[in-house]
Amino acid sequence: MKNGLMRKKSIESLVASTENQGLKRELGAFDLTMLGVGAVIGTGIFVLTGTGAVQAGPALAISFVIAALACLFAALAYAEFASTVPISGSVYTYTYATLGEFFAWIIGWDLILEYLLAVSAVSVGWSGYFQSFLSGIGLDLPKALTAAPGAVKGATTYMNLPAILIVIAITFVLSIGIKESKRLNNMMVLFKIAVVLLFIIVAIFYVKPANWVPFMPFGFKGVFSTAALLFFAFVGFDAVASAAEETKNPAKDLPKGIITSLAICAVLYVAVSLIMTGVVPYPAFSQALDRPVALVLQMAGQNWVAGVISVGAVFGMTTVMLVMLYGQTRIMYAMARDGLMPPFLSKIHKKYKTPYGATWIFGLIAAGLGGFVPLDELASLVNIGTLSAFTLISVAVLVLRKTRPDLKRAFTCPGVPVVPALAILFCLFLMVQLSGATWIRFLIWLAIGMVIYFFYSRKNSKLNKQGK
Ligand code: ALA
Repeated sequence: MKNGLMRKKSIESLVASTENQGLKRELGAFDLTMLGVGAVIGTGIFVLTGTGAVQAGPALAISFVIAALACLFAALAYAEFASTVPISGSVYTYTYATLGEFFAWIIGWDLILEYLLAVSAVSVGWSGYFQSFLSGIGLDLPKALTAAPGAVKGATTYMNLPAILIVIAITFVLSIGIKESKRLNNMMVLFKIAVVLLFIIVAIFYVKPANWVPFMPFGFKGVFSTAALLFFAFVGFDAVASAAEETKNPAKDLPKGIITSLAICAVLYVAVSLIMTGVVPYPAFSQALDRPVALVLQMAGQNWVAGVISVGAVFGMTTVMLVMLYGQTRIMYAMARDGLMPPFLSKIHKKYKTPYGATWIFGLIAAGLGGFVPLDELASLVNIGTLSAFTLISVAVLVLRKTRPDLKRAFTCPGVPVVPALAILFCLFLMVQLSGATWIRFLIWLAIGMVIYFFYSRKNSKLNKQGK
């Protein structure tokens, strides 16, 4: 079995092997919740709600509830793993210990779609808000530097310079240490939550219930396809789990961090979306697909609040990129430590105690993708990668209950097998709503991953070497 596709790591040896590896244990439950909210509230609520309102009407709020339920069921499964296998690498590591190396590879590969492409996609959204902020104060960038080649019809553009620069700045912050990143993240997340609350408090007075009629103008079809799109708004809460080795008390704090951050975001999203469609008749969002939240406040005559919210959106998206890139580098660190990726990706900086090789390599790739590739389809690719990872983790929780019932679990997923089964059903259902083109790209991505696995990772796996 040692050389088979199903070779597994033992959970006990995994935990032991990560002791004294050099990462600092700095984070508590509050920091993890901040990390989760930091990763979650961003482009989904500030940008994609515009498209969502046009596709689903006021029932946008129901789409959010469906996406939130899929995440909640998956989060409960996640939390059980996070409390049992508190190791850097998130779902990748959990899968290695349960379903074996091949599935672990696939999941690690899927997570690149989730984390890396989310950083790039959000950097483009960030750039849009940042540029409108600059124009507001009379500064306009040369058109050629505002978007990726081919991204703007009828204009010649070479690169999205702000998107590149923000990702490089974030990479720098992450490379110099988790403590500094944590402070910056906590400050920006608090500001982001304050801005969302400000929106709710100001805009609620302008709600006209007549705008909610008809509530579901495009029926369930509109609601479901919007749920698949808005799933993007929740992507990222699982990044919390990848901080296990830098958490003071992972068994208790990880489940708390994951579930609290998800609950906060779900409540805020439903409130914001109901208010948005209550203030502005839903067809009007097609005029401002890139800044729907600001549109609501402008229509309410609250221009200064709209300005504050736009600044909040810029900060909000910054934290999303920070946490997603953080998650990406930690997964690569774990895969490289296991021999499945080249060893320089697991080197820890002597002074800063961060995996600086992985941080810079993936930071630069994300910056390049955000700067040079038109990213319209990226949200769907991020979603399909994440949903497939959630499906596998829910399968894994069921498998581990059968194969290792003895294992100490600080947090147990309630209602097994029903809750993990619901997670699998919800995730597959949302995946089916995504387009054929997204599925084709996803399958090509998986095929490339398999080639790398069979030609590099399988041979270089530490488990393989131990087996000889
Ligand atoms: N959930 C993150 C966002 O909406 C990816 O920006």
